Order: sequence, then C-alpha cells, then structure tokens
Amino acid sequence: MSDPLAPSAPLSVFRAGLFNGQVAVVTGGGSGIGRGIADLLAALGAHVVLASRKQERVDAAAADIRNAGGKASGVAVDVREPERVQAMMAEISREHGRIDLLVNNAAGNFYAPSESLSANAWKSVIEIDLYGTFFCSQAALPIMRAGGGGSIVNISMTLHYRGWPLMAHATAAKAGIDALTRTLALEWAADRVRVNAIAPGPIPTEGVRKAFTPPPAAGGVPDVFAVEKAMESYAKKAIPLQRWGAPADIAGMVAFLASPAGGWITGAIMVVDGGEWLAKPQPAR
Ligand code: HXC
Ligand code: NAP
Repeated sequence: MSDPLAPSAPLSVFRAGLFNGQVAVVTGGGSGIGRGIADLLAALGAHVVLASRKQERVDAAAADIRNAGGKASGVAVDVREPERVQAMMAEISREHGRIDLLVNNAAGNFYAPSESLSANAWKSVIEIDLYGTFFCSQAALPIMRAGGGGSIVNISMTLHYRGWPLMAHATAAKAGIDALTRTLALEWAADRVRVNAIAPGPIPTEGVRKAFTPPPAAGGVPDVFAVEKAMESYAKKAIPLQRWGAPADIAGMVAFLASPAGGWITGAIMVVDGGEWLAKPQPAR
C-alpha cells in the first residue's frame, strides 16, 4: 500500500474535467505554491490566468501549462494597484466571459526586526498581501455575481496564531486576510460567492528560502531552509507528520474548496500544515 502521508497526488484524487469551462485567476501563479495551484486547476480543465508583476515569469509558466495540454495565459499586474487590478479582471471577463475562481496567493515577506522596518518596508508587505487580496476580491465580485456565483480562496499562514518575531508586517497582513475572509464570506454569500482561506505550513519554495534568509542584524533566528540536513531534522522534529509541505498539498485543498464538495463551506480557514503550528515552540527572542 502506498504511504498515506506522502505528498499529495491530487490529480489522482479529483475527477478529470472537474473544472471544464471554468476560469480561474491565480495571483502569484508563476512560482512556488501559486504555480502548483495553477498546474492542478489547469490539469482539471480550468482556463487559468496567472497574474503577477513579472510578465516573463507568468508567460513562461502559462506556456509550460499549455505544453502539458492545459489552458493558461499570463497577465502582468501589481496587486497593490487597484485600477490595474480592475482593468485586468475586466479584460479577463471580456475575453472569457466569466471568472469562477480567484486564488489570492501573491505575497511579499522577509525577516526583519520590527524596530528597523522602514515605513516603505511595512507598507510594501501590507499592501501586497492585504490590500492586494482585497483589491482582487472586490474587482472579481461583480463578474462572479454576474456568472451566478464563484469561489475565492485566500492564501494565509499560521505564524500570526501565536505571533512570530521578525515578521510583524507579514503576520499583521495575514491576520487581516483571515478577518477579511470571514467578513466577505458573510457579505457575499447572498451573491453565491464563497470566500475561504488556506493557511499553509512551511513549504520550501524559492520565495520562502529568500524571505527566510535573515539579515545579519537579526541574529539568533536560524534560517531553517539554509542547509538540507537542518531541513531534514527540522521536519522530523517539528512537524508532526514529519515532512515539509509541497505546493500540491495546498493545490488539493484549493481544488476541494472550489469544487461542489466545498459548496457549503464559506468563511473557513483551512490549516494545511502537517500539524506544525500546534506543535511548534515559540522561537527564543
Ligand atoms: C528589511 C527590506 C527587506 C529586508 C526589502 N526591504 N527587503 N527591509 N529587510 N530583507 C525594504 C526595502 O528596503 C524597501 O524599503 C521596502 O522594503 C520595499 O522594497 P522593494 O524591494 O522596493 O519592494 P518591492 O520591489 O515592491 O518588493 C516587495 C518585497 C520583495 C516584499 C520587498 O521581497 C518581494 O517582491 N517579495 C515577493 C516574493 C516573496 O517575498 N515571497 C515570499 C512569500 S513566502 P525602503 O525604505 O528602503 O524604501 C511567505 C512565507 C510564509 O509569505 C511563512 C512560512 C512559514
Ligand atoms: P513565492 O513563490 O515567492 O510567491 C509569491 C508570488 O507572489 C510570486 O509569484 C510573485 O511574483 C507574486 N507577487 C509578489 N508581489 C506581487 C505583487 N505586488 N503583485 C502581484 N504578484 C506579486 O512564495 P510562495 O512560498 O509560493 O508563497 C505563496 C503564498 O503562500 C504566499 O501568500 C505566502 O505568504 C503563502 N505561504 C507560504 C508558505 C511557505 O512556506 N512557502 C507558508 C505559509 C504561507 P512576481 O515576483 O512576478 O510578482
């Protein structure tokens, strides 16, 4: 029998063609977790629009998906710019006639002592994570409503459940995203738009490796992703299910929430972390 705790193979779980005819927008879809989400949604039949700042990144990922037989396109957008976000959603609606699923996955993050965060550093992360999630959701709502409903999935985290030193900006932003998830779920239920979130545990993407490399001034906080050996022992000790997460673990939850199986779920924040946050000790200051 295969290992039931092995990284998900969601393609073998969901019905082929589950999202045929549907249009999904994945912000930050050109890399890491967003890319894993885009790959699965496209493999299940959706047309996936990958949206992030770097046109070449989303274009390359969309080309990969098309080469694998899926439907995908790339759009350059900075989610901090509401007019640009509105224009992007309107363009998608003009071209495809609908938006069924929005995954607010784009984020910025880095380790930095709170005292030294410049106003612009604080603003950058809050605006990408929290404002970006709101602007994209607000712009997608009328299009989803016109199509009879839709599903929004926000990508949160777990570090704000107990606080996490050197991440004041990201933890504040993600706590805001959790609040937004619940509030919009209530406001938009009448429009048949479901709003949920996923809180991933640690998944060693390139983006997170970069974000977790502490600045020299930070001292005392280990870069748990720096050395493969340290990673192995961290996963074995600190994650009850004893492995790192993979983008496919999050993608499977997105597909579930967006599918009819998630049809009575709104305002929920699904923790997908191998049990990590429950078990994790607070870091020393
Ligand atoms: C202190 C920093 C900094 C750092 C940037 N800044 N990096 N301050 N320490 N390491 C400051 C800059 O000096 C500047 O302030 C301000 O932040 C904006 O920086 P820019 O580079 O001009 O901003 P921008 O180009 O908009 O880039 C946004 C970014 C960047 C967030 C700063 O890191 C980014 O693009 N990140 C996207 C990818 C990413 O972060 N992925 C990680 C997601 S993983 P001044 O005052 O100098 O102008 C994740 C992990 C979850 O979320 C938890 C896992 C368990
Ligand atoms: P990642 O690869 O760095 O993903 C971040 C994505 O966001 C990139 O594709 C980036 O593309 C895009 N982006 C950044 N700023 C943007 C902006 N202003 N406008 C539009 N797009 C922007 O990191 P990841 O690890 O996959 O993280 C994905 C999500 O999971 C994030 O929400 C993160 O907070 C969350 N998360 C990750 C972990 C983990 O351990 N990896 C744990 C908990 C939560 P461009 O550079 O092209 O813009």
